[in-house]
Amino acid sequence: MKRIYLSLLMFVALAGNFMATAQRADYNVIPLPKEVKTDSVNSFVLREGMGVYFDATDAEQIRNAQFLCEWVEEMTGIKLALAPQDKKAAIRMTIGHPADKKLKKGETAPELTEQEKEAYVITVGKTGVDIQARFPVGHFRAAQTLRKALPVVKNAESVELPYAEIKDEPRFEYRGVLLDCGRHFFTVDFIKQFIDVMALHGSNQFHWHLTEDQGWRFEVKAYPNLAPLGSVRAETCVGPPSAGIYDGTPYGGYYTQDDCREVVRYAAERYINVVPEIDLPGHMQSVLHVFPHLGCTGKPMPVRTYWGVSREILCGGNPESMTFLKTVLDELCQVFPSKYIHIGGDEVPKDRWNKCEKCQAKIKELGIKGDPKHRFHAEHQLQSYINKEVEEFLAERGRAIIGWDEILEGGLSGNSIVMSWRGVKGGIAAAREGHRVIMSPNVYSYIDHPQLKDYGKQPRTTDSYLVSASKIHSFEPLIPDSLTQDQQRLILGPQVNLWTEHVAYPDHAFYQLLPRLGASSEVQWCLPEQKNFEDFKKRLPHLQKIYDILGVTYCRQVE
Ligand code: ACM
Ligand code: ZN
Repeated sequence: MKRIYLSLLMFVALAGNFMATAQRADYNVIPLPKEVKTDSVNSFVLREGMGVYFDATDAEQIRNAQFLCEWVEEMTGIKLALAPQDKKAAIRMTIGHPADKKLKKGETAPELTEQEKEAYVITVGKTGVDIQARFPVGHFRAAQTLRKALPVVKNAESVELPYAEIKDEPRFEYRGVLLDCGRHFFTVDFIKQFIDVMALHGSNQFHWHLTEDQGWRFEVKAYPNLAPLGSVRAETCVGPPSAGIYDGTPYGGYYTQDDCREVVRYAAERYINVVPEIDLPGHMQSVLHVFPHLGCTGKPMPVRTYWGVSREILCGGNPESMTFLKTVLDELCQVFPSKYIHIGGDEVPKDRWNKCEKCQAKIKELGIKGDPKHRFHAEHQLQSYINKEVEEFLAERGRAIIGWDEILEGGLSGNSIVMSWRGVKGGIAAAREGHRVIMSPNVYSYIDHPQLKDYGKQPRTTDSYLVSASKIHSFEPLIPDSLTQDQQRLILGPQVNLWTEHVAYPDHAFYQLLPRLGASSEVQWCLPEQKNFEDFKKRLPHLQKIYDILGVTYCRQVE
């Protein structure tokens, strides 16, 4: 009897102990903050009903305080109160950074990098939690870190926050994720969830691939038929195109301009910029379906029903092509405030242009002859001519263009940004020419590819090479072996790309994204010396618990 009683006591003590440790926060989250100093002994106890102080005259701070309360409740069940009147509340969000010295009269503050604008410091001590940041975006980043640090407990009465000082800022100013909504259409509700998941990982650029041979998804008011007709393909190829198997089912969907504005608004509240892409002058078969006269042959054609690269591109010699592009881009600029507009430029076969009278006449008129030294043909320079026209048009509207690395071929003007996808060589060449670069090399960044060596263990997708989480995690975007320090400063940051030829459903999209976005987030935020994949794997199960709370699918195995 006594022994049983003792064991029972021991069980209760152990369970109590387990509960106590289970309810402690751990600040070693994903992405790992730059500096985490913790006290292993002392903790601040956060309880139901405690307050969050912030400046209630600032709409962003109100929203960020609400987010923090929402996330604390989601993780622990603890309900905090908004307490803008109480400077002594348990959690205090204030503007300012301890690294900044007080300015004397007449002194101006040094210019901040984009990363410094996002910096934050979290200090946990006897009186509670101080969140300091130069701007509300820093409060938001800090709140995400606290969210991920909290234990997952149902209806906790309290949780322990070990005393700590956490200092953090992102490594790169541009931290992107592409979603291809051309090959498959994803609803606005799904895109909001996708944006929430991006924000959880600290990404800040949603690259929205809106147009494709297989579907035009952006409403253009000047061309009321374009989206309704250009977004619908008669059927979709299933399996490899060579097998010739089609599902026989029409497929479509497009975003109204109001939908797009709603996505922009939702993303901005989560400090994510939406970079829209109109892929030109290739990947436009859906346009030629609606406007055959804009193609070199003028012949009618369907919205493409299978994958791969189409030869049917916009005619480079027809002045109406430029009118079309400018009309579309003008409306795009009215909907998307992004300082970057992506103009595609990838995979533009020149077969049609080689044989088109209008294109050849334009080449003559421009006096372009190709550049054999660089292996550029006149047709490459015709594409450059289109890029430059578009670039100037967008510059007048205060925007800079981003293009896939093909835009380097045939010459490129200085303000353009190159997105390197065919490996890193395009990015290296661009930085050496003085262009800004986003690094998105396929072998490290294409998350439409398999993440596990055993392809049979995952849903079928683009399968020519493996892009495992460890491969993504190992990527170093600055390519220090090939670029000088000045050239490295032109690398704005990395991006992962979710192409969707074989990804038609939300669950599959999240499976492709997660946890590889976790691996990418450490490339986006952490210094190379901080990155350790074995350690990442130890921190991952906690992040997976948050994926579970959010109800998103993810790959459970990590290689
Ligand atoms: C691309 O993957 N065609 C940019
Ligand atoms: Zn032509």
